[in-house]
Amino acid sequence: AENVGVCAIDVYFPSRYVDQAELEQHDGVSAGKYTIGLGQSKMAFCDDREDISSVCMTAVQGFMEKFNVSYSDIGRLEVGTETIIDKSKSTKTVLMKLFEESGNFSVEGIDTTNACYGGTSALFNACQWMDSAAWDGRLALVVAGDIAVYASGNARPSGGCGVTCILVGPNAPLALEFPLRGTFMEHIYDFYKPNLSSEFPTVDGPLSVTSYVRAVDHAYAAYLDKLEKFDGVEHASLKDIDYLVFHSPYTKQVVKGLARIAYNDFLRAPESETFADVQQFKEVSREDSYGNKVLEKAFINLSKADLAAKTEPSLLAARAIGNMYTGSVFFGLASLLTEVPFAQLKGKRVALFSYGSGCAASVYSFRVRADTSNIATTIRLRERLDMRTKVSPAEFEKAMELREKTHNAQEYEPTGNVDELFPGTYYLQKIDSMWRRAYGRT
Ligand code: ACO
Repeated sequence: AENVGVCAIDVYFPSRYVDQAELEQHDGVSAGKYTIGLGQSKMAFCDDREDISSVCMTAVQGFMEKFNVSYSDIGRLEVGTETIIDKSKSTKTVLMKLFEESGNFSVEGIDTTNACYGGTSALFNACQWMDSAAWDGRLALVVAGDIAVYASGNARPSGGCGVTCILVGPNAPLALEFPLRGTFMEHIYDFYKPNLSSEFPTVDGPLSVTSYVRAVDHAYAAYLDKLEKFDGVEHASLKDIDYLVFHSPYTKQVVKGLARIAYNDFLRAPESETFADVQQFKEVSREDSYGNKVLEKAFINLSKADLAAKTEPSLLAARAIGNMYTGSVFFGLASLLTEVPFAQLKGKRVALFSYGSGCAASVYSFRVRADTSNIATTIRLRERLDMRTKVSPAEFEKAMELREKTHNAQEYEPTGNVDELFPGTYYLQKIDSMWRRAYGRT
């Protein structure tokens, strides 16, 4: 198929959030730590009424209704998530419930998991299916999202919750640029979930931050090499990318990610005029650069204009929701499409940096080749973010405790108030003695 890529995208996030400034006060940390230090304003969360299956069902059903797509037209459904409630049965198979009425049970694809990267792998699978001899002419859905929760402590404010649903098709407004893709994967214990009886990850925070930046280095370099090789670009750099969307654990990490892009451009062309003020960092080895705060700061300053022009519009959802793990980078894409009018996006290259701990990372890109305004007006991102309800940090903690206590529960009826959910939200009604889950919809 020609011009395979993103035809439409919708997002789901819970109706309730906790304010990060109030959380700073409540946690007794210095004012500004979460809001300025992490760059977060609000964090979405859910109680025991929602699980990974329900939030994915909400996202998919909402998408199909809003964009008027029929379940019979779907030939592939891929799910990227790291929120696991079953070691065997995939979330994808739960989503097949939504297909029942259409009679379409011939739907390929299954779950893909590696921290925040599963959604990217799912998207690649769907696009490559459509680009291959296996394609039968039908459309694909890619669902990526998570319930991101941390044990109480310094990682907790970097949680969040959200799911994206993407329609992949031919002649897409956002066509994936084959084969422009730079990938980096290695074995590292920075963030992982070895404790199967807990919903919380085991995290080496500082290592995860360095690993993210190392992955930026390698994936970006590999992407630029492909640009030079396949697109005939000379001295490829950030100048060849119009918009750059990052995986956002918290938005401050994205600021650092873009600064690192500038550092990489500097290493590739230190003699360039742009880098006149940072010549002193030529002597620093790449390995030593990771912990060098002076260097980091210098390149954050140097990349301010690029941040405003190329990345800032993609941070709307991340700042207001928090980390959505596999969904994060696509919430970034959805934010960009909502915040930047099509007239400005037309013909431009949008690159994405996806990072999943453990680790797996890719830089890849789309070309905006047809109108995206229908997406923006359909998903009404800003409006929906503003429709949410703020709750106190104490209430947020109560919800976290409830999730923790009832994780893996059997013969259980959730106690969360269904009236607090947005209309059209799927919710957990009951878990029976064989851990079978039943759902309703508001
Ligand atoms: N005002 C302004 N800034 C402040 C304040 C304040 N009052 N207090 C602290 N800060 C700054 C710090 O200087 C620091 O800035 P820097 O990053 O530029 O050095 C920043 O806020 C964070 O403060 P730390 O003390 O480093 O925070 P802490 O160690 O408590 O937690 C961490 C941060 C490690 C990221 C934690 O939230 C975590 O473990 N999160 C989960 C892992 C994660 O998200 N990793 C990212 C990539 S992997 C992934 O996506 C899951």
